[in-house]
Amino acid sequence: MIELRGISVTFNPGTVNAVRALREIDLRLDEGELVTVVGSNGAGKSTLLNVVAGVRLPDAGRVSIAGRDVTREPEHRRAALVGRVFQNPLDGTAATMRVEENLAVALRRGQRRGFARGVGEDRRRLFRAALEPLGMGLEQRLAAPVGLLSGGQRQALTLLMATLAQPRVLLLDEHTAALDPAAAAEIEALTIRLQAEQGLTTLMVTHNMQQALRVGSRTLMLHQGEIALDLSGEERRGITVDVLVRRFQQARHQELVDDELLLTR
Ligand SMILES: Nc1ncnc2c1ncn2[C@@H]1O[C@H](COP(=O)(O)OP(=O)(O)OP(=O)(O)O)[C@@H](O)[C@H]1O
Ligand SMILES: [Mg+2]
Repeated sequence: MIELRGISVTFNPGTVNAVRALREIDLRLDEGELVTVVGSNGAGKSTLLNVVAGVRLPDAGRVSIAGRDVTREPEHRRAALVGRVFQNPLDGTAATMRVEENLAVALRRGQRRGFARGVGEDRRRLFRAALEPLGMGLEQRLAAPVGLLSGGQRQALTLLMATLAQPRVLLLDEHTAALDPAAAAEIEALTIRLQAEQGLTTLMVTHNMQQALRVGSRTLMLHQGEIALDLSGEERRGITVDVLVRRFQQARHQELVDDELLLTR
């Protein structure tokens, strides 16, 4: 469960460059809910995820994750609660480290120091079992440096790493956007599987409007730091991208949706 109450973030406050990235956001995600987030460039999507992860502490408001008030906890204090995947497959893994070493680091995330560093046979068995269902043959390549993997393989590994330590929350920031269509489809399917298996409360940012309506059970549209639309249930079922854009325009009094939003439908 994620609960945001009155969350505001302003960058460069009191200067000519002040940006109100989030404006009094109220948002509650139920346990195990997968919510997609769309919105044009600069709408506040990444800032929203950063507030949940603790990368950016809000100027006002409260954040709670799984019933714990984490408002003032910096990123490292809530790391065990949160798994993240970014757009660039290179960001989530260390290229010169082996597949198994990357997984070992992921497993240690959020745990106290002193946890065994090496990768023993028990650990390898666990990693192989986690990699095998990906269907990419990575279970045979535990000793390979991650730099040798394809973008899709690397993003699959990143997703696995993000969920390996069993966080409560998964934050995905355009994590399929940099992949070719086939790899993007694989990562999307893997996301849905891992999310469902672990019952992860998930925020998934995407610029692909079709993906936003296809994946999960609820879609938010952010606009200038506010939640302009929040669709779920009957209202969301069967909705087309055109209708979504129209709904958005109605909500914003016919304000023009920017080109990028229209182009990426
Ligand atoms: N560290 C920062 N310093 C100053 N301004 C920032 C910072 N991070 C974000 N912003 C500004 O806050 C606003 C929201 O940015 P954010 O990155 O959350 O948007 P976004 O919806 O993720 O956009 P995109 O689709 O381009 O990724 C933008 O106007 C952005 O320029
Ligand atoms: Mg962003």
